[in-house]
Amino acid sequence: MKPKRKTAAKDSAPKPEDEKLRLTAATRRDYAAWLDMRKDLYSDVDDEFHALEMDLMLSSDDRACLLVRAPDDEAVGFIEITLRNAVDGCLGGPVGYIEGIYLIPTWRGLGLGPAMVDAVAEWFRTQGCRAMATDAEIDNEDAQQFWNDLGFEETYRIVQYRKSLGAPVAPPPQPKRRASKGARKKPAAKRRGR
Ligand SMILES: CC(C)(COP(=O)(O)OP(=O)(O)OC[C@H]1O[C@@H](n2cnc3c(N)ncnc32)[C@H](O)[C@@H]1OP(=O)(O)O)[C@@H](O)C(=O)NCCC(=O)NCCS
Repeated sequence: MKPKRKTAAKDSAPKPEDEKLRLTAATRRDYAAWLDMRKDLYSDVDDEFHALEMDLMLSSDDRACLLVRAPDDEAVGFIEITLRNAVDGCLGGPVGYIEGIYLIPTWRGLGLGPAMVDAVAEWFRTQGCRAMATDAEIDNEDAQQFWNDLGFEETYRIVQYRKSLGAPVAPPPQPKRRASKGARKKPAAKRRGR
């Protein structure tokens, strides 16, 4: 990591006693502060896309955003996580995925980032995950160093592609199969082998 030590301390800079991690789940009330931080981390994303992703985080069971709170309750960072069924380089799912981690600049370099990762690792374990994973932009060498320092191993360097398929087409109706005499339909959970 490039040697970038703490620059001129601002009045708002945390004091050593503030360095304890306090994480709470983001709610709609945190929207503005959360959005400001997201805009700093993902500067090329438009507001509509931020709103879509944030709404999804708030409404899904397998996604969450945890906010780091300063002693005065101000949100000074976030970690966004999902449970993914499969991740390249990880054997089997679910895999705990760190989608993004961010601290406002005056709260960096205090060891809070590693503590945030430790906290979500605990939660992933309780959700049946045997591994956690993440990614970093190819030119964000600070982030790559951060993940290496925390014991994450690099798996792949890839180029991702996409091609639009246009508006979705409804699948053709499937003919209903007649149940043979005497055959009983199992409840859905049993059919899935549970
Ligand atoms: C990644 C991030 C959450 C790490 O959290 P953190 O609490 O700063 O982590 P650490 O305290 O372990 O600091 C990591 C290193 O960055 C250095 N550092 C980063 N920013 C710093 C700052 N503003 N002041 C001082 N040191 C800083 C630390 O000295 C430390 O290096 P060292 O371990 O060699 O001393 C945080 O740096 C951040 O928000 N970065 C911008 C967003 C980003 O790139 N996220 C990752 C991609 S999703």
